[in-house]
Amino acid sequence: MKIEIPRDCERMGAVQIYGLQKVYELDSGGNSGKLDTSHNDVIRSIPSEALYERQKNMAIVVPVKNERLKLIEGVLVGIPHPCQIIVVSNSPRGPVDRFHIEKEAITNFCKFTNKKVLVVHQKDAGIAKAIELAGYSELLGDDGLVRNGKAEGMIMGTLLARWLNNKYIGFVDSDNYFPGAVHEYVQEYAAGFEMFDTDSTFVRISWNSKPKVMENSLFFAKWGRSSVHSNKTLNLLLSHFSGYETEIVKTGNAGEHALTVDLALNIEYAAGYAVETHHYVNMIEMWGGVLPPSESVASRDKVTICQIESRNPHLHESKGEEHVEDMIDASLSVIYNSPLCPELLKREISEDRAMRLKLDQPEGVPPVKVYSNLSTLKLDTFLEHCEVAFGSETEALSLV
Ligand code: GDP
Ligand code: CO
Repeated sequence: MKIEIPRDCERMGAVQIYGLQKVYELDSGGNSGKLDTSHNDVIRSIPSEALYERQKNMAIVVPVKNERLKLIEGVLVGIPHPCQIIVVSNSPRGPVDRFHIEKEAITNFCKFTNKKVLVVHQKDAGIAKAIELAGYSELLGDDGLVRNGKAEGMIMGTLLARWLNNKYIGFVDSDNYFPGAVHEYVQEYAAGFEMFDTDSTFVRISWNSKPKVMENSLFFAKWGRSSVHSNKTLNLLLSHFSGYETEIVKTGNAGEHALTVDLALNIEYAAGYAVETHHYVNMIEMWGGVLPPSESVASRDKVTICQIESRNPHLHESKGEEHVEDMIDASLSVIYNSPLCPELLKREISEDRAMRLKLDQPEGVPPVKVYSNLSTLKLDTFLEHCEVAFGSETEALSLV
């Protein structure tokens, strides 16, 4: 892959946020033969072998809820072979057992591809038990099982990626129409880890475009409304501390992201649409050097956020636009309710919100649920009991 070396970098304490990097060649060749592996000042050429080496230690978590099988299959087709796939499904088990059908389809797919796929249901009793014993019951509902929601599925996927001893974890939604786009994201995750080879690297993808039908022709929109809001507000937060206006953040709610498992197990996950934005906020809270150091947070020399602009258009299943306001609210909520947020920015967020929602007067943004830092989960206990779950729950959980 030929990829631009980032030009800008904003620092806050140990957190380094690099500017958006463009991809110039999806495949720039391998190690062998007369290939251009030169590194000049603006472009880095990463041989495909190096990407595959990273992917050998990478789990890709695919959250699923009631997606069409053809879509899920397309997503699996796009994930490079060396990756460990972890499908976390929250599809209903009755009256029609959708999960069973998904598992069957994936098993069949694996026969053809010989891929490593772990399929697990979000309501798996064995895993819920392991989470409870590990002292992280806040993830569980009244029925003792993992709560509904994509973020909750992501936490489960993170724990399973650790259980399978992966170094990196990436996420791709299961409702993506283009296998080629999925393939590109995972290549870019690997490229990010190759360029920033640290224990605390976070790679986030910004789509180049999102096709929409407008007046009978295709229009390739660049920014969704929700990302405009979260990027702008995160940038205002950074500007407040640095004293310089910045536009560095372009991936405030990047659903497509990857990070080292080590980092993933030491940050907080917010529920619902806030999860991605909260990762930014939480990393700045912990390692940005503004808030007093907390005893429960281990210090880190460097936390690197790398942002890559993908080339494929992003097209996912259309589920209506009605939740855009909720998405904006959720991501602004985590910024607003962070102890980092200065009064001035709080006022700006609530005034902007009052206009958006046509409220009579500005009011605070209600907080969203944020799960405790995953470091509070007793990992050894979880891993031990996960083994037990895998032994006894073969019906619900299968290593296909
Ligand atoms: P959007 O793309 O942000 O509009 O949200 P989607 O509804 O497309 O959800 C994103 C991804 O998460 C899709 O792959 C869904 O199938 C999946 N998903 C949604 N809700 C859940 C859930 O409760 N659990 C799991 N495991 N996945 C979910
Ligand atoms: Co979607």
